[in-house]
Amino acid sequence: MKTRIIGTGSCLPKTVMTNDDLSKYMDTSDEWISSRTGIRERHLAVEETTASMSIEAAKRAMENANVTAAEIDLIILGTVSGDFVTPACACEVQAAIGADRAVAFDINAACSGFMFALNIANAYIQAGLYRTALILGAETLSKIVDWEDRSTCVLFGDGAGAAVVRGDENCGMLSFDQGSDGAKGDVLACPGRANNNPLIKADQTPRYVHMDGQEVYKFAVTTVPASLQKTIEAAGLTPADIDYFALHQANIRIIQSVSKRLHVSDDKFPISLDHCGNISAASVPILLDEMNRKGLLKPGMRVALSGFGGGLTWASAVIEW
Ligand code: COA
Repeated sequence: MKTRIIGTGSCLPKTVMTNDDLSKYMDTSDEWISSRTGIRERHLAVEETTASMSIEAAKRAMENANVTAAEIDLIILGTVSGDFVTPACACEVQAAIGADRAVAFDINAACSGFMFALNIANAYIQAGLYRTALILGAETLSKIVDWEDRSTCVLFGDGAGAAVVRGDENCGMLSFDQGSDGAKGDVLACPGRANNNPLIKADQTPRYVHMDGQEVYKFAVTTVPASLQKTIEAAGLTPADIDYFALHQANIRIIQSVSKRLHVSDDKFPISLDHCGNISAASVPILLDEMNRKGLLKPGMRVALSGFGGGLTWASAVIEW
């Protein structure tokens, strides 16, 4: 039994913020941002929430998969920016789509969130516990980034992506790899909510995302090609056998470096970061949905997926479409 992606969906907020728009709010420029990252614009949530975008992405994925809510056994949603601490965003999705039979929960694996969700769903399907799962990555990063730190806030955007996966006898996931390095968690962190416990002295530390960009860059350009190489070998393939690489969309230079290290043409690395920026857990499923809807993905094609980021965490998979 393999875990097969049978449908995809995504949702981006209506409001688009270009690099030039950003330069009205801070000392930055389209030249600085696009030359270092490849990002030209991103969508930012104004009326949308993490849940509303997730629900829309889920509905589109279910329609694309031709699956009803009653068929869904499991909903796993990767996010670091859910609207509530509880209930989980996955539970909000469950209620909105009416997937009454499903078990629903969120996971926090930052930019690897969708990939971890895929690997968890795969484990449940392999174990024979569930047949059909809805997996999502969704973020409203605009509410957790530090808008006074131009070196990080320009990188991120908001959105949600989803996929329906199902156990299949013939094709689907061929191999996966995942890992974490908690000792390096500090290089990309977000302390989160303020504590108003009266027994604890008020803490004025800024509670937004902070990042050591160069350390994250070094982590990405070493760990991602190694993880992909391992996953591709585990599938009995070489990088040349892979039709497309759908990578987390953090930075065009990271993607170009991975393509160089694997000796694969960068034509095989579709991009969405130019118009989306980095949407953490939502990057991989949004890219996959764009590829699917453009008709790039044909039955039998092999696609390598990889997510990486805060934790630090990383995860890769090779799937047969
Ligand atoms: N606009 C204009 N100037 C900016 C700027 C901005 N948005 N942000 C930073 N700068 C300035 C800095 O202040 C610094 O100026 P100085 O030399 O006068 O001090 C200069 O640009 C260089 O900053 P630096 O941080 O050294 O740039 P860099 O070349 O390392 O590029 C990143 C920064 C963030 C683009 C790069 O480190 C990166 O892409 N890292 C990976 C981050 C990532 O992908 N994270 C998510 C992973 S999931």
